[in-house]
Amino acid sequence: MDRIVIQGGARLNGTIGISGAKNSALKLMAAALLTDETVVLENMPRLADSRYMAQLMARLGVQIEEGPGSRMTLDAGTITGVFASYDLVRKMRATFNVLGPLLAREGRAKVSLPGGCAIGARPVDLHLKALEALGAQIELSEGYVIAEAPKGGLVGGEIDLPFASVGATEHAMLAASLARGETVIENAAREPELADLGEMLTSMGALVEGAGTSTVKIQGQKSLSGVTHSVVPDRIETATYAIAVAAAGGDVTLTGIRPDHNKSLWHALSEAGVSVETGTDTVRIMRKADKLKAVDIETQPFPGFPTDAQAQFMALMALADGASVIRETIFENRFMHAPELARLGADISVHGNEAIVRGVDALRGAPVMATDLRASVSLVIAGLAAEGETVVNRVYHLDRGFERLEAKLAGCGAQIERRSD
Ligand code: EPZ
Repeated sequence: MDRIVIQGGARLNGTIGISGAKNSALKLMAAALLTDETVVLENMPRLADSRYMAQLMARLGVQIEEGPGSRMTLDAGTITGVFASYDLVRKMRATFNVLGPLLAREGRAKVSLPGGCAIGARPVDLHLKALEALGAQIELSEGYVIAEAPKGGLVGGEIDLPFASVGATEHAMLAASLARGETVIENAAREPELADLGEMLTSMGALVEGAGTSTVKIQGQKSLSGVTHSVVPDRIETATYAIAVAAAGGDVTLTGIRPDHNKSLWHALSEAGVSVETGTDTVRIMRKADKLKAVDIETQPFPGFPTDAQAQFMALMALADGASVIRETIFENRFMHAPELARLGADISVHGNEAIVRGVDALRGAPVMATDLRASVSLVIAGLAAEGETVVNRVYHLDRGFERLEAKLAGCGAQIERRSD
């Protein structure tokens, strides 16, 4: 199994190009099921998760071509299956989002319930309520969702989400685009990935208003057309490298980004004493000061501090001057990186959904492992800032969501390499 080996202490200097957003790309791929014409996605990140989604789509009959460069071409001219098995869905939750498009286009679908995962229970009740509001009949049987649309297909409806769930909002938007009439989603999630999906669905012919705000209106269409769409830059990859530079020290410019998608992080980094200079599609992160200031954060839906950058920020605060309180409000079990960071010398105590991080003078390298993607990368960040050697095991978590992580960091002077046994 691969490991990432880091010799800590090198400052980072240079430029890192940011890839397309994993969490947008996976839903944009699902949107390709809504049309029998060709969909071209540009700026697609090459990740284990996107390859995995491609495998599922291929089983449903979608023809997929990767390349050249970061392009992916999807052709769902004929859908040959409406079944997504447990084996496929349990490995990656985002595959569950094929349910709505299959139902909207084919009138029926059978998709495995995803089940919980390391960071929380993550039910899909809101996804199912949204589809029911569009007329779907839903039955749960032996761990599967069996869904059927009314005879004439899905019909537009009113969806009022009790929580602004990203997945449920995306799911509702996907299905509503091929439903008859108007759908209104209230308390919709406002993450930039929703605006990206709205833009693509609009280019395909659905009339989508307000995507990326808390009220989304969609005029569904009988059929949708093909499209060429460029995936929005990954705000979490951006946040991760910005925090890495803050932790290791140095001067790095991140390019191909949307600075307005990370305002809460820029604010937190500036408070910590890190210099943040945003340009049109760049950000320059500089840490010159010796000591970072402790900053409290609370994760919130967008535009608040993202839960997907919480682990990385905790690694940074491990080296700050003073104590930082980190509150996680989105997922109930998202502090599994805390004991691993402690192996590197961090002083962290967890009480329910709150972690108190008391900054230490230095971290020291150690072998570590993590149980999810963002937790793993927080260990990489800590390893870059630590003295000595850190070995991060279970690299497959990192490969799910970070494109060429070692190459991007090594390009800025990090002493980091992948080793296979
Ligand atoms: C998306 O997950 C992302 N995943 C997550 O990124 C991200 O952390 C999350 O949004 C929040 O920003 C993908 O896009 C593939 P939610 P999602 O529905 O859609 C509860 C990463 O590391 N909930 O907004 O699953 C749920 O349990 C991943 O890249 C229900 O109760 O997030 C959670 O506590 C991790 N019922 C909260 O809402 C539902 O039907 C937020 O979930 C749906 C959600």
